[in-house]
Amino acid sequence: MENQKIQVALDGPASAGKSTVAKLVAKKFGYIYCDTGAMYRAVTLKAIQSQIELTDESAVVAMLKQTQISFQPGDPVQHVFIDGNEITEAIRQPKITNSVSTIASLGGVRAELVNRQRDIAKQSSIVMDGRDIGTAVLPNAPVKIFLIASVSERAERRYKENMGKGIETPLEQLKKEIEIRDHKDSTRKVSPLTKASDAIEVDTTSMSVEQVVDEITKIINEKIK
Ligand code: DC
Repeated sequence: MENQKIQVALDGPASAGKSTVAKLVAKKFGYIYCDTGAMYRAVTLKAIQSQIELTDESAVVAMLKQTQISFQPGDPVQHVFIDGNEITEAIRQPKITNSVSTIASLGGVRAELVNRQRDIAKQSSIVMDGRDIGTAVLPNAPVKIFLIASVSERAERRYKENMGKGIETPLEQLKKEIEIRDHKDSTRKVSPLTKASDAIEVDTTSMSVEQVVDEITKIINEKIK
């Protein structure tokens, strides 16, 4: 596969560690990284700021068509911008996290973002993380990985991440929020979260970040040799 652009589709439920490992794997292979969840979060933030009803699909889509979403590489986090304004931290606030599933269930929003994600993937070899990358965005990706972890493990990870940002949310509440988001993400009508039939499942529950990165590295090397 020399000189060919490699696409690594990394899907899985909320807080399964996708973005952390996707970034590290992208860096290791010299690929670009695209966090598609950040795009749905950006649309949610702008709709709220613009006082658009989140269920008003035509209004949200019209707004999105006039909205530029861009990324800049950064360590430890990738920087996210809407219309040139940085929103990296704003899109991680609990209000956005708890409203984003509504926006992600709008077919018109998904169609527009999927097109933009495919355009990004044309530029270079890429690790793209999300919920529907292997099934809808890049169905021909040579490498598809589906990361899972138990709800308790994911809630603990989110708890630590939040504490690091000075956001204190009780663990039990985080567990409930993750369960609600899992349910919404996997039961929505358009592109629900499902494992592609040709994706390799990696359960990260008792694995360190390094172990997950090593495992994915092995899978990629095996697939692209
Ligand atoms: O990965 P995340 O938590 O930042 O994703 C935010 C939301 O966006 C999540 O509820 C699911 C949705 N999403 C999606 O539907 N499709 C994607 N490709 C990425 C995220």
